[in-house]
Amino acid sequence: MATTSVPSIDLLSAASFRGGHPEAQYAWLREHDPVHWHDEPGGRGFWAVTRYEDVRAVGRDAATFSSEPTIMIPDGDGLEVGDHKMMLTMDPPRHGAYRRTIVSSFIPRAARAMRPRIEAIAGEIVQGVVGRETFDLVEDVAGLMPSYVIADMLGIPRPDGVALYELTETIHAAPGSVPPDAAAEAVRAMFEYASGVWADKCAHPGPDLATTLVQAEVDGAPLDEIDFELFFLLLVDAGGDTTRNLVAGGMDALFDDPDELARLRADVDGLLPTAVEELLRWVSPVVYMRRTATRPTELGGRAIAAGDKVVMYYGAANRDPAHFAEADRLDLGRAPNDHVAFGGGGPHFCLGAHIARVEIEALLRELLDRLPGVHRAGPTEWLASSFISGPAHLPARG
Ligand code: HEM
Repeated sequence: MATTSVPSIDLLSAASFRGGHPEAQYAWLREHDPVHWHDEPGGRGFWAVTRYEDVRAVGRDAATFSSEPTIMIPDGDGLEVGDHKMMLTMDPPRHGAYRRTIVSSFIPRAARAMRPRIEAIAGEIVQGVVGRETFDLVEDVAGLMPSYVIADMLGIPRPDGVALYELTETIHAAPGSVPPDAAAEAVRAMFEYASGVWADKCAHPGPDLATTLVQAEVDGAPLDEIDFELFFLLLVDAGGDTTRNLVAGGMDALFDDPDELARLRADVDGLLPTAVEELLRWVSPVVYMRRTATRPTELGGRAIAAGDKVVMYYGAANRDPAHFAEADRLDLGRAPNDHVAFGGGGPHFCLGAHIARVEIEALLRELLDRLPGVHRAGPTEWLASSFISGPAHLPARG
């Protein structure tokens, strides 16, 4: 798409994401300045990468583009305790050693085994809003699913899963939207809860992911309680608002495109698998992941210095017309569809991708089945965040 006027570029302001991804900014950047030097108030600045091929190149090359010290743009945001950190911000080979401790719970076979339970959860959630005058697709439907699923996986009560998820909301809230100490207090509460789970699973091991972690070893040494707590926070966090935003953002897109919604209704079984991938491409719930260059290199014709921050904008890559035909058209039958909503394909590629797909498919199917006339009951209110994109509220009627 040719863009003539120059929009003002600001990918840090939450305001840029108030109506979803800033598509006009992305389009201009992809076309005119695909590896763009972006100022950062209070920080050293960063390269904003918006073309599909460049995002893939950065995501796949962990030796040149490191996940340390952190994957957020501000340097201080890497959650670490002493020399303990989350695997999300580790590099190979340490990262692989941590990822291997839990990977068997996330492989396609494990996701398939979870399908009946996830479908039952989806049925219960959607039945809960059947007959209601209006409901919020975010809070009453989409948000409950990932909280219940991760609670079941970890072996903790479902209401606790919902409460923990609310803590992650506070942790991610835009500055100014919550009281000054709220985020730190939420992290403290999360660690305290995880500490209780650690003690409980040490004493009463069960057939669950928390017990797998309690018993895990890395390089022959057992994980300690802090490792466990960081893993716990990552698992509760990573699958929560991402999956929620995909389902709610996906319904928002379908409400805006009645022809595609009708096409899906007419052939739910046939179209749902490609529809899920297309909605992932369209919604791109994770706005960005940052890397840090380990050596001088070149990207999209730009010289990158060692130590530079390099930020992959997944939503921009997912609308790149050089890679996707009719990139700005929602096409629920699109195939192939090698979007980067789950990451650029390197070692950190979303561990929960297979489970997320089962959750999304089950919830969309139940919404279409049990609420054949579901439609928008008011405007979408978007999250005030430049890191996670999706609706904060989406009023709907059955
Ligand atoms: C629509 C839903 C989801 C989206 C869009 C999403 C997206 C992502 C992205 C972009 C990354 C970083 C990839 C990279 O750096 O290359 C990631 C990592 C991760 N995701 Fe997801 N995710 C989703 C659901 C889930 C779920 C349901 C779980 C768990 C149950 C999960 C667990 C993780 C974990 C543990 C990581 C870190 C992997 C690592 O560092 O090796 N995600 N996800």
